[in-house]
Amino acid sequence: MAYREIYEGWKADPEGFWMEQARAIDWIAAPSRAFFDQGPAGEWFADGMVNTCWNAVDRHVQAGRGDQAAIIHDSPITGRKTSITYADLQGRVAQLAGALAARGISQGDRVIIYMPMIPEALVVMLACARLGAIHSVVFGGFAAHELAVRIDDAQPKAIIAASCGLEPGRIVEYKPLLDRAIDQAGHKPDFTVIYQRPEHQAALTPGRDFEWQAFQQGAIPADCVPVPGNHPAYVLYTSGTTGQPKGVVRATGGHLVALMWTMKNVYGIEAGDVFWAASDVGWVVGHSYICYAPLIAGATTIVFEGKPVGTPDAGTFWRVIQDHGVKSFFTAPTAIRAVKREDPKGELIGAYDLSSLQALFLAGERADPDTVQWAEDHLNVPVIDHWWQTETGWAIAANPLGIELLPVKKGSPTHPMPGYDVQILDEAGHPVPAGTLGAIAVKLPLPPGTLPTLWNAEGRFRKSYLDHFPGFYETGDAGYVDEDGYLYIMARTDDVINVAGHRLSTGAMEEVLAGHPAVAECAVIGVADSLKGQSPLGFLCLKKGVDTPDAQVVKEVVARVRDEIGPVAAFKTAVVVDRLPKTRSGKILRATMAKIADGDDFKMPATIDDPVVLDEIATALKSVGYPGAT
Ligand code: COA
Ligand code: AMP
Repeated sequence: MAYREIYEGWKADPEGFWMEQARAIDWIAAPSRAFFDQGPAGEWFADGMVNTCWNAVDRHVQAGRGDQAAIIHDSPITGRKTSITYADLQGRVAQLAGALAARGISQGDRVIIYMPMIPEALVVMLACARLGAIHSVVFGGFAAHELAVRIDDAQPKAIIAASCGLEPGRIVEYKPLLDRAIDQAGHKPDFTVIYQRPEHQAALTPGRDFEWQAFQQGAIPADCVPVPGNHPAYVLYTSGTTGQPKGVVRATGGHLVALMWTMKNVYGIEAGDVFWAASDVGWVVGHSYICYAPLIAGATTIVFEGKPVGTPDAGTFWRVIQDHGVKSFFTAPTAIRAVKREDPKGELIGAYDLSSLQALFLAGERADPDTVQWAEDHLNVPVIDHWWQTETGWAIAANPLGIELLPVKKGSPTHPMPGYDVQILDEAGHPVPAGTLGAIAVKLPLPPGTLPTLWNAEGRFRKSYLDHFPGFYETGDAGYVDEDGYLYIMARTDDVINVAGHRLSTGAMEEVLAGHPAVAECAVIGVADSLKGQSPLGFLCLKKGVDTPDAQVVKEVVARVRDEIGPVAAFKTAVVVDRLPKTRSGKILRATMAKIADGDDFKMPATIDDPVVLDEIATALKSVGYPGAT
């Protein structure tokens, strides 16, 4: 069947469509129907009983795939490569789950995971899933304060961490960050489990911290616990407009059904194939496409601990594809830009046998046409942009390779996937004609696998996503649909920025800058960056009478952001200005500032309080080398 027929088929009978897809999942008690009109935006498969770990691990062993590789760890940063079969994975996960259960972890308890790209991160996620415990993975590039905020929100009974992560040229010691976070947080976990890596052994606090091996010694392997379809599988925090991250909830049944559907239909992957998403378990891509989806589908997933360049060179991606026979490869456009910058002619590509590769998938930020073209020219496979968010957990729009490859239009993630009725709305919530820019919204209900709410924050869920356009989910992205129904994602409608495929809150950075004793007022914007897509830039107005030199204040706020949010914020520059441009009602004109920095045309905002401030901003930007600021 062609894409159009499948999409229209879903639209005509969503209930039938999703019940049919649910057949690909092993249910302990099958759901009586797909959609349940309950909760703030509806729920899926709520009365089914199911277990995620069974579907991702045990059922494949039972079906005879026990000897197949489930996880391949390829770590150019340590020089190690290991492979874990489905049977081995089942043993490891059941053992850890047994040890966690013996320490009191049961269905509904939260477990925070703070681990780098090692297979043990997936083992912990799956062990939680086995028990019906709700995991929350925190990305290793976040610092202690961000971890503390998540501890207080999720209130975990346990935290499972590694002793360290490895970045090129440095060891990131996780344990001191974890200790600081636990000190800072009001909530204290009952215990922690620390996986000691050979690169660095962390000092443990007796009575609270357990060493990974010792913790599991003698534990009785645990069975899979049946949970209802609407039971939260995990909470993943993502950036909103303020420093308080949003805890995106993923419900179990819809997650299983939707991810299973995507493996075949979007990524063209079946059981036994090798799939690789070069992201991090701390992001949604890592949850859906490093851990869950490939395993649910019985494929082999690759856990890659390295960078696109420098580990050891810009040929790493191609080496991994060759060595493991990767069929579909998923990364962020920024990673391809990094490779292209080092190897513009793609010379390293020729050194590897990429005959296993059927397609390259890009997401996480806008795939600029130059990058797509470069990849197409050098890889000779379809390059597929697809658009999604932490909130949705899977692609809202894609080119569904497994159904049919639709003609590619560079700069567009193609068409909506079944389940998503995407509409472009004006400020008043009316659909706009083709070619007109507007807010991108999805008609409710959202499909299975998307967020049913925010963790302990239903009011914030409604306010952030449902209230603005009644009857719709507000994506926070702006864009348009062309005459052929192709979707184009152009910008965020809020103050979220996207740096190297990482979603960051300018509001969170502003809170850190405002905490500096010399800063009276501040703003952070995202400016165009040829490698990372965007990079953050701060503006500081200093308090009267401050005699610290500007350069010193800038240095201190840069250090503060790194220390409080983490190196991933990539906050490297700020400028001191006398005033910030504002509307008459006092709103800072961040979007206009970003346009000045990027050298884009902009309309003088009608509500601006004092237009002269924009000239001052342009001068300040010029002084720090922003060429656009003329
Ligand atoms: N733990 C600790 N620190 C981390 C980290 C982690 N897991 N991940 C990144 N960092 C650090 C980096 O070391 C860097 O530190 P530095 O300021 O000391 O150099 C900082 O955070 C910024 O990292 P990043 O923005 O990733 O820049 P980079 O220069 O290290 O690498 C790219 C640039 C493009 C190669 C890299 O960002 C990349 O591969 N991006 C792909 C992103 C991706 O897959 N996103 C997932 C969505 S699909
Ligand atoms: P995250 O929740 O971290 O996955 O970030 C989601 C946001 O990244 C989206 O709301 C978009 O702003 C952006 N994004 C992700 N994928 C794409 C894409 N293919 N094209 C354009 N923007 C994208």
